[in-house]
Amino acid sequence: MMGYYQKWIVPALIDLSMRNKRLRPYRERVAGAAEGRVLDVGVGSGLNLPFYARQAREIFGLDPSPALLARAGGNAQHLNIPVHLLEGSAERIPLADRSMDTIVLTWTGCSISDIRTALGEMRRVLKPGGRLLFVEHETTVTGAVPFLGSLVWPLGCANAICLSSVDLGRRRRTSSF
Ligand SMILES: C[S@@+](CC[C@H](N)C(=O)[O-])C[C@H]1O[C@@H](n2cnc3c(N)ncnc32)[C@H](O)[C@@H]1O
Repeated sequence: MMGYYQKWIVPALIDLSMRNKRLRPYRERVAGAAEGRVLDVGVGSGLNLPFYARQAREIFGLDPSPALLARAGGNAQHLNIPVHLLEGSAERIPLADRSMDTIVLTWTGCSISDIRTALGEMRRVLKPGGRLLFVEHETTVTGAVPFLGSLVWPLGCANAICLSSVDLGRRRRTSSF
């Protein structure tokens, strides 16, 4: 029963909750600023994909959930940008060192169990001068995308995988970024 819940119910709940229209301005701002080769960590059902602009030349979407990646594949179909969907985890990113210009995380940091290792991996795959763009529903740092807070998260946490005690801003500052 738990396997079925994790495999099918959780992805459907994530997709449903993340379709919240209130998230759209944040997607526009974060995905719209991405340039070059872009890694979307925790791409989920691909809801950022329509917001990538022309300066994003190639997109890599990473997620551990095959069910969410299948949904992302549907959202990638109408894009003019090449999209590569990768099954895997942020703690072990299946990409070469210094290969990405931008990394995007939208409401994903709270789902990653070992965020410190994941940030180290993101650092590894970013080119020198590359940018990490993120939006989270927890503490952020100056200049980061604004706090989203409880407007969204009653639904977002319905997926039961949100580790809301994770403070991505603090972890980012104490990691190699
Ligand atoms: C709240 S959803 C956000 C999805 C997407 N970024 C969006 O904005 O719609 C969190 C996502 O993180 C993914 N995730 C969970 N653990 C992960 C990990 N270790 N590495 C990468 N992604 C992970 C989940 O499968 C899910 O797609």
